[in-house]
Amino acid sequence: MNFHTRKWVKPEDLNPNGTLFGGSLLRWIDEEAAIYAIVQLGNQRVVTKYISEINFVSASRQGDIIELGITATEFGRTSITLTCEVRNKITRKSILTVEKMVFVNLGEDGLPAPHGRTEIKYVKDQFKDDSE
Ligand SMILES: CC(C)(COP(=O)(O)OP(=O)(O)OC[C@H]1O[C@@H](n2cnc3c(N)ncnc32)[C@H](O)[C@@H]1OP(=O)(O)O)[C@@H](O)C(=O)NCCC(=O)NCCS
Repeated sequence: MNFHTRKWVKPEDLNPNGTLFGGSLLRWIDEEAAIYAIVQLGNQRVVTKYISEINFVSASRQGDIIELGITATEFGRTSITLTCEVRNKITRKSILTVEKMVFVNLGEDGLPAPHGRTEIKYVKDQFKDDSE
């Protein structure tokens, strides 16, 4: 799993308990996962269909640097299934896990459309120099 995005936990991200607000974290994850799905499927019309059980494993505090990891676990006909983990960048302690997030690839009509992808594409392969 690649941890691409780092976030700095700021005062506006806290709950009344003084720890990272779950809603902020879920927003970051949904956005990160949507970007991952868009890049993998090569289509901007991708929507969140399903998010499985979310486990808030441990709290994060103001000033912490956290990182978001996403990887694809399954390519369906019109869907892509991802798994996600958020951890403390410094200590590597797990903060949250989401076992399954399903995104659906849509056509211009807004209906599910086959994406034709079967495996993870890496950026270096997607933008390969033809002269190589
Ligand atoms: C996404 C949407 C168009 C899918 O419509 P639908 O009628 O469920 O479509 P389908 O039954 O053809 O399913 C589409 C894909 O989703 C998968 N899927 C449907 N329901 C699912 C569920 N509960 N869990 C996991 N996967 C599911 C199907 O297996 C299918 O994948 P596949 O083609 O790879 O096999 C529709 O549900 C929708 O518009 N939902 C709202 C999306 C949204 O607003 N999200 C929040 C903002 S991004």
